[in-house]
Amino acid sequence: MDTYTPKPAAILQSPPIDITAPYDAAWVGGKVILITGGASGFGAGFVQNWAQHGATVIVGDINVQKGDALCREINKQSTGKAHFVYCDVTDWQSQVNLFKQAVKLSPHGGIDCVVANAGIAGRDILQEGAHLDAAEPPPPDFKIINVNLTGVLYTTHLACFWLPKNPGSSICSIDSKPSTTSPRDRHLLLLGSVASLGPIAIQPQYCAAKHAVLGLFRTLRVTSGLQGIRVNLLCPYFIDTPIVTAGVRFILAGGAMGKVEDVVDAGTRFVADSRILGRALAVGPRMRVRQKENGEWELVMPGSTTEGSIEAAAFEPYADDWTDQDLWNRNFVQLINMVQAGRGWIGWAQDIVKAILYSVGIGR
Ligand SMILES: NC(=O)c1ccc[n+]([C@@H]2O[C@H](COP(=O)([O-])OP(=O)(O)OC[C@H]3O[C@@H](n4cnc5c(N)ncnc54)[C@H](O)[C@@H]3O)[C@@H](O)[C@H]2O)c1
Repeated sequence: MDTYTPKPAAILQSPPIDITAPYDAAWVGGKVILITGGASGFGAGFVQNWAQHGATVIVGDINVQKGDALCREINKQSTGKAHFVYCDVTDWQSQVNLFKQAVKLSPHGGIDCVVANAGIAGRDILQEGAHLDAAEPPPPDFKIINVNLTGVLYTTHLACFWLPKNPGSSICSIDSKPSTTSPRDRHLLLLGSVASLGPIAIQPQYCAAKHAVLGLFRTLRVTSGLQGIRVNLLCPYFIDTPIVTAGVRFILAGGAMGKVEDVVDAGTRFVADSRILGRALAVGPRMRVRQKENGEWELVMPGSTTEGSIEAAAFEPYADDWTDQDLWNRNFVQLINMVQAGRGWIGWAQDIVKAILYSVGIGR
């Protein structure tokens, strides 16, 4: 039997990211970037960095005080511009307004990049048994799902509407030339988490939402050619921002929390380099590591030889899956399509007759 050979030409994803290769942050200059939840944490780090490199950033957040102060401060010192627009991502109309405002504020009348960043964590009552003696539990509070999933789906839907309309933009391509002017970009950057890749105890809603964001990413990237939107995903480990509550900090004590600057760096690589399509980066604490022959990373211990080692905080968690999983899916769909084609009109007619009989109760 022939072995199955993947066909990279059919793949819309770019090759795995070489995290040791430099990129030019100046490529974000001139871009118009809409970010949700940009008032704090990574969001605020992104806004500062991108405006500093000459981008126009539209920040949508519920925290008016923090968002407004951040943008004012940035506008005193940056070549780019930051605008604050109140937005509650769980409210469809609020997001519609954010996107419309962004287009109005855009110097070139379009949006180059959308970052679905707003998120919350915190006490999750899904598993709580506090009401075990009641006849039935009260309805659960799904705020974490609403912000981290419904909000992201609203942002994605609006991005799919506005990004292809970006004047001067073209279909995303691995062969594109990163540029601050033209062609303009169409980029959706999603904020996943390590909770997209594995379980996080006592945070079932957060984990379910972030797993769903991973599924969204993997699905969108397969069809990114349709609207020409490139989609990428960031999966940070625990990083020192206000989302990490005091309680979690106790649990993590002695662990290895990551830094905002490393998430900002990984996100900036995605935004700057229009050749990156359908990739994910996990970001954790900065470590000195070396890659083994089997592809696994190992920590380089202090005192041991550092030959071939690099210092890194970002890693590709899905470096190979486009050649395996997504290609297998395509291959399977191809087989199914061929079976369907083989059945032809006769097969279609047989199924229609069966469906009619079924609808009147025959053959159930
Ligand atoms: N910090 C971490 O450890 C970590 C790890 C993995 C993933 N993440 C993800 O990164 C993203 C950013 O988180 P962060 O760490 O910067 O946290 P953060 O709390 O500092 O920032 C989150 C921002 O989202 C805003 N926000 C919350 N609800 C909103 C709503 N309904 N509408 C609009 N804005 C809203 C907040 O006001 C805040 O400005 C989130 O999606 C989070 O899940 C964070």
